[in-house]
Amino acid sequence: MRENKQRSSLFRKKPIASGGDNSSALKRALGPLDLTTLGVGAIIGTGIFVLTGVAAATYAGPGLVLSFLLAGIICAFAALCYSEFASSIPASGSAYTYSYTAFGEVIAWILGWDLILEYGFASAAVASGWSGYFQTLLSGFGLELPHALTSAFSPEKGTYFDITAAVITLIITFLLTRGVKEAARANGIMVAIKIIVVLIFIGVGVFYVEPTNWQPFLPFGISGVTAGAATVFFAYIGFDAVSTAAEEVKQPQRDLPIGIIASLAICTVLYIVVSLILTGIVPYNMLNVSDPVAFAFEFVELKGLSWIVSLGAIAGITTVLLVMMYGQTRLLYSMSRDGLLSPVFSKVSGKSQTPAVGTWVAGIIVALFSGFISLGHLAELTNIGTLFAFAVVSLGIIVLRKNNPDLKRGFRVPLVPLIPILSALGCAYLMTRLAALTWITFFAWLIIGLIIYFAYGRHYSHLNPARRISSAFRLKDK
Ligand code: ALA
Repeated sequence: MRENKQRSSLFRKKPIASGGDNSSALKRALGPLDLTTLGVGAIIGTGIFVLTGVAAATYAGPGLVLSFLLAGIICAFAALCYSEFASSIPASGSAYTYSYTAFGEVIAWILGWDLILEYGFASAAVASGWSGYFQTLLSGFGLELPHALTSAFSPEKGTYFDITAAVITLIITFLLTRGVKEAARANGIMVAIKIIVVLIFIGVGVFYVEPTNWQPFLPFGISGVTAGAATVFFAYIGFDAVSTAAEEVKQPQRDLPIGIIASLAICTVLYIVVSLILTGIVPYNMLNVSDPVAFAFEFVELKGLSWIVSLGAIAGITTVLLVMMYGQTRLLYSMSRDGLLSPVFSKVSGKSQTPAVGTWVAGIIVALFSGFISLGHLAELTNIGTLFAFAVVSLGIIVLRKNNPDLKRGFRVPLVPLIPILSALGCAYLMTRLAALTWITFFAWLIIGLIIYFAYGRHYSHLNPARRISSAFRLKDK
């Protein structure tokens, strides 16, 4: 009776064993190097190659490096919490699955729905950044698309749909349906290219730094630095996507924390150095362009290198798109397998053993977002959704330690509850630095999610006792 009450409760929890079982139909093919590559592949992209320019010019000035430092510290705390969860509940679905075991179904649904927003809008934002660099490259060859199809819906500027962003999204969707190992291999080559390009930027750029460009260091004060941090936070998103691969990892409890922490550490160091050099080469108020890193080389008359940076940025941003969309399909897979979303998203098919139909549904929706909505808007929505997820995951560590003290953990966050609390407070603070419209859209998204949950997920959930009884009858009938 008591158990039934618990099962019909909004806070019914998924037992931990069922999170880490081997019922997965996905292939276990990934090791620690694959995961670190997947992480770096997901992290370095539109954030560093595109958004740094806007952040320096409109918010932080040369103090951009402090924005990166602040956002990096908050992400490091969150990454520790993700690592502990990933090493104790190595199941597909990341933060969604963690909160299903720590907080119960309705919170898990809210978080899962929030992560659909994160991955969906991040993919769309990244595709839009890709389109910017690609079109600059095309125009270098004298090729121009019809103006109406060059950017997101904005009739006053005469643009209606970003066709390049939509097409690259669909190409990546196709690649993902071919199988995870194949996609990871293509990813590995492109990650190598983008790291080489970033290192070239650092190695050559350092000789063109004019320290006078760092004066004044904080033209917009500390509040500019924190607003800049809320924007460049986007550049760090992606390490959390590593944990969505849990069911395809050979030794998840050891390899997931390695992948998460190593990829974040590599990117933090690179970002700090790149932002120092970028603001050292170009006066900050000239950085508001769609390709600031390539522009810096053009600014000092290194045209050939500028072209190479553009190519590397395109390859680099492609890998982010690949991992973000991968994360999206695996999240939908987990939510669908739990009965909270349509079974279409967990139907694994074909030789490639991927959820192909779900991947196409998600890919087409993301393609439409990337075509119609502007990069700035997409990036802010991604940030608010991700910060919310990081805060919930961080608090989840405190709950998990209290409720499941004996759970086997491959990795433990030090100084609990201090670090999880600092992480949650840091994320909440960055959220307060985002625009009012972003908050309104975020709440509207969550309310739509709750309506779907009460109309569909709550009834079809595998934890719903009524559904269990009816499926038992169906089995008997057969
Ligand atoms: N961190 C990813 C990027 O900057 C989302 O593109």
